[in-house]
Amino acid sequence: MSGTKKLMRALAGETQVVPPIWMMRQAGRYLPEYRATREQAGDFLSLCYNSDLATEVTLQPIRRYGFDAAILFADILLVPQALGADLWFVTGEGPRLSTVTTQADFDALKPADAIHDTLAPIYQTVRNLSEALPSETALIGFAGAPWTVATYMIAGRGTPDQAPAHALRDENTALFEALLSRITEATIDYLSMQIEAGAETVKIFDSWAGSLKGEAFDRYALAPCREITAALKTRHPDVPVIGFPREAGEKYVGFAKATGVDCVALDNSVDPDWAAANVQIDGCVQGNLASAHMVTGGQALIDETRAIVRAFSGGPHVFNLGHGITPDADPDNVQLMIDTVRESR
Ligand code: CP3
Repeated sequence: MSGTKKLMRALAGETQVVPPIWMMRQAGRYLPEYRATREQAGDFLSLCYNSDLATEVTLQPIRRYGFDAAILFADILLVPQALGADLWFVTGEGPRLSTVTTQADFDALKPADAIHDTLAPIYQTVRNLSEALPSETALIGFAGAPWTVATYMIAGRGTPDQAPAHALRDENTALFEALLSRITEATIDYLSMQIEAGAETVKIFDSWAGSLKGEAFDRYALAPCREITAALKTRHPDVPVIGFPREAGEKYVGFAKATGVDCVALDNSVDPDWAAANVQIDGCVQGNLASAHMVTGGQALIDETRAIVRAFSGGPHVFNLGHGITPDADPDNVQLMIDTVRESR
């Protein structure tokens, strides 16, 4: 069932001597060929919605490095846009959105099943990729988790502490929860469509899960992930799901069992030996080299990469960074990481 693709074997629970490897933000500004294609598209959002060019940038890191998996080129903020939010990117600063902070803002959003007109080019990119990828390369679809997507919709931008979303949660819990439900419903539909178009696994990015503590984490990070995973498993029982509750800390423990995800992605604040003993005991883990090593390279990169591979060698593991690679990374350091994992240096 899981076939011969290394990523799918790891997600199915197989321990491999050499783990599969891919990298968050592997198609991105650190690659000159990405910058050239983005230039051709005009801007980042035009690139996301141009299926041919989005296919091209997804394939670039596969051609250059032979990663074991490709991740669909898109963005987690396309779902809010498909729900009717305005979305634009300010160069050097990041995303901007129209905000949802009142009942009237919420009422102006589209229903979840209205997202597909906007997102049709994304499904076309997935179809293109499932045709174009080498037979050994797995295709990963993705979406943002409801909490993380809501933090951007409420604040209208990225925030260091997600304070506007926490404030709405306190001041108008009903509205906050209605927004989370709308995003949850849209995300289930969006990921199902990616799977039907050819995604072999999907990843749920909860980049800001770490700012939810205790019961709030269970209610707004864990529960939506469980709901999305359960709905996907009903429709597509054989498709594994990867959860990424970034900076969840001790909340990583038991996350897979509680949500039903097949793999838990770990950020680099987590000690690999601790995670092997406390998280990997329940199944596959992904991670977790600090992306700073892609900038600095050298012996520290090699040592840390080996330590991570060694720590997770007793169970199913997907090698990855702990967060996305940054634009100032050196492409040669990516090759050094891959060679170290594959022990070809
Ligand atoms: O990993 C990949 O190669 C696939 C594509 C992908 C992108 N964004 C492309 C992108 C994925 C999986 C994402 C997820 C995403 N987007 C997350 C979750 C993961 C994480 O990093 O925590 C979040 C929070 C976003 C929202 C977002 N998109 C922000 C905050 C920014 C601006 C920051 C930045 O790096 O510029 C983006 C832009 C973005 N998304 C870029 C890329 C390649 C850079 C845009 C450019 O080319 O200028």
